[in-house]
Amino acid sequence: MIYEPLEDSILLEEQVKKLAKGTVLDMGTGSGIQAAAAARRKAVKKVLAVDVQKDVIEHCKKETKNKKINFRQSNLFQKVPKQKFDTIIFNPPYLPAEPKLKDITLEGGKKGYEITEKFLGRAKDYLKDDGIILLLISSLTNQHKVEEILTKNLFEFEILSKKHVFFEDLIVYKIQKNKIALKLGKKGVKNIEYFTHGHRGMLFTGKYKGKKVTAKSKLPKSMAEGRIANEAKWIKLLNKKGIGPRIIFSEWDFFVYYFVEGEFLQKFAEKSQKTKIANAVKDVLRQCREMDAMGIDKEEMHRPFKHIIMNKKPVLIDFERMHKSKKPKNVTQFIQYLISGRITHTLKKKGIMIDRKKAIRLARQYKKKEISFEKLAAKLF
Ligand SMILES: C[S@@+](CC[C@H](N)C(=O)[O-])C[C@H]1O[C@@H](n2cnc3c(N)ncnc32)[C@H](O)[C@@H]1O
Repeated sequence: MIYEPLEDSILLEEQVKKLAKGTVLDMGTGSGIQAAAAARRKAVKKVLAVDVQKDVIEHCKKETKNKKINFRQSNLFQKVPKQKFDTIIFNPPYLPAEPKLKDITLEGGKKGYEITEKFLGRAKDYLKDDGIILLLISSLTNQHKVEEILTKNLFEFEILSKKHVFFEDLIVYKIQKNKIALKLGKKGVKNIEYFTHGHRGMLFTGKYKGKKVTAKSKLPKSMAEGRIANEAKWIKLLNKKGIGPRIIFSEWDFFVYYFVEGEFLQKFAEKSQKTKIANAVKDVLRQCREMDAMGIDKEEMHRPFKHIIMNKKPVLIDFERMHKSKKPKNVTQFIQYLISGRITHTLKKKGIMIDRKKAIRLARQYKKKEISFEKLAAKLF
């Protein structure tokens, strides 16, 4: 069944006409509309157009005269030669198929994005480092999910055009390889993988000189400039005092540190014995005190749920909010956490009793510099 060009084809074709370059792969070519648009461009040398349907390929071979284009039957990349393209185009079948697949030109799997997901999982091996993918999706495909898939496959993206047609929005993406991942590769980081992301930051894992590392960068679409460089600057300073994950190298838009193995403090406390927990808590207090003395505030030490990893010793992570302060609150906030969080019950269960009133009094005295940190630590429990 040949897919007659519709609004989606036209919307994608507009971008192909402007952006296709070098060697081009037209995935799921259908009528051959995208391949033809690409081939008409001077900047395009060659086009390989593939489709899973045999009759589509036979039809295109008969109808198309342009010598730049080669047609081949292939289920996604199965029969695509191992080579890297400058441009990859795909207008995938994207509708959810309920209850089962009826039309291969329209339906992309149960949820609609399965073919796109498979395509994106393989596409990076066929794309040059400076290559582009032009991909069309519909708002019926779960745009958020597609963007997650893109990020996880180490791509960055922008929306080139959007059109509302009947009951859906058609969206054309320009997709490129994540620039930070490329830079990391050039720096010698191997096996780079997506790890996780927050509102602003994005984490990768990889191997550097045989050791597991983490790299942190801003999310490609986040506008927050300068934060990464700022965090790297603080961690380097803290590393001198034995605090934080150990930074290996950094640039303005990313930094790389040794991966911190271990579990979060709460989980560690649930599993461990009294002395070990007490030592860990004291060590965190000591690190907080060090930061107080340096006149810097980590912020959020009163809810450090995901910010303390128990390795051989507790390692504080995530210094996104670190800033200079005349009245740093690291110690007092951590005490607040010890007496008011879920950890309080765990500590009690393990025989570590912290008297709430006494703790508050000690914290106040410490804050006013009436007692030393040593005295506070000795009296707390
Ligand atoms: C929505 S049509 C797009 C056709 C054309 N590129 C256009 O823009 O009008 C999707 C095309 O993808 C093809 N297709 C579906 N599953 C495929 C797969 N696994 N591998 C390659 N092509 C596939 C279909 O046969 C169909 O021709």
